[in-house]
Amino acid sequence: MRIVSGMRPTGKLHLGHYFGVIRNWIKLQNEHETFFFIADWHALTTAYKKTQDLKNHIRDVMIDWLALGLEPEKGTLFIQSRVKEHAELHLIFSMITPKSWLEWNPTYKDMKYNLLRLSEIELQFRGGLRDVVRQFLNMIPYKVEDFERFEEHLLEDLSSTFISALFEGEIEPELLKKINVSKRDFYDTDTYGFLGYPVLQSADILIYKGQGVPVGEDQLPHIELSREIARRFNSLYGDIFPEPEALLTETPKILGTDGRKMSKSYNNAIYFADTEEEVETKVMKMFTDPQKLRKNDPGRPNVCPVFSYHRLFTPQDKVEEINGDCRSGALGCVDCKKIMIHSLEEFLKPIRERRHQIQKNIRKVEQIFIEGSISARNVALETMEQVRQAINLK
Ligand code: TRP
Repeated sequence: MRIVSGMRPTGKLHLGHYFGVIRNWIKLQNEHETFFFIADWHALTTAYKKTQDLKNHIRDVMIDWLALGLEPEKGTLFIQSRVKEHAELHLIFSMITPKSWLEWNPTYKDMKYNLLRLSEIELQFRGGLRDVVRQFLNMIPYKVEDFERFEEHLLEDLSSTFISALFEGEIEPELLKKINVSKRDFYDTDTYGFLGYPVLQSADILIYKGQGVPVGEDQLPHIELSREIARRFNSLYGDIFPEPEALLTETPKILGTDGRKMSKSYNNAIYFADTEEEVETKVMKMFTDPQKLRKNDPGRPNVCPVFSYHRLFTPQDKVEEINGDCRSGALGCVDCKKIMIHSLEEFLKPIRERRHQIQKNIRKVEQIFIEGSISARNVALETMEQVRQAINLK
């Protein structure tokens, strides 16, 4: 089976990337013909206003992929924008894709929502959100007793609702004028490129006639769209494309250090580029069972993020012991974390070392991806030849 998948370059990779995606890719590269690429054009669909870090992000992803065990000898590793035929196929697909297929795509909405959260965090950082909320509160016609607390509450829980409402056009234009905010103060994703995101993704997959696409559940609507586009193309011009299938894996979700989903924007991630000291500091600050206040209080491993890491990194028999000792109160959180750091380091250390080695010769890394892009392009060119002929462009 031919496997195709891509990753947007958003920066250095963390444990979440490994357990969510890369681990599965590594397995697949041993069993199938694989094409894995850095989706740099896709990064532009949302981050087009901030491209100054893009090059570094791409480089970081290249280094991490190799350090984690993706091998250019086993599969094709490349960069999307180096295979221009993706863009050509995207253009052709855009001719045959009804707009409604894109506007109805639930990921389009979700993605917008995620960006809202991102912009929310940015605004909080700049203090801007506080101003918005304050002005918003000032407009409430009754008096709020505990203003400070209410404000915090609003900031935490209602800001996303507020911003979503803003995006959905549910806030009166009059009100918006008064508080002086507009959609454009947030990420501006009302673009042609953003709407066409899944069309480009379909081109990414179909240009290699990909049959299997290992992705997270959030990508399912995109894969479905690529099937629809393949069907439509085939029925219009003749059978060229297979209908790709999403390959989902039940991956144990790794939590961030605060117990939420691990994500760069939550500032709760452990990176492969982190030093041993950085990892230690992060783990020592990790959330544990909030009811275990003192060292000898009995704890609840099933609600403790640290224990979820033990499950992933600590040998099984030791995990059972920790489970018992936490429940009985024999094991305090500090000692438990120290054991966990040790286990985690067993996993991270070799990766960190490979990262250092690889980083020393960045030219070679780039060369690997340039060569990968050339072999990918050879396959892409063949498909495009068939496509041009089928459409009578040639
Ligand atoms: N949209 C994918 C994501 O955000 C990245 C991606 C781009 C992709 N092109 C692809 C994934 C093609 C699979 C196949 O994760």
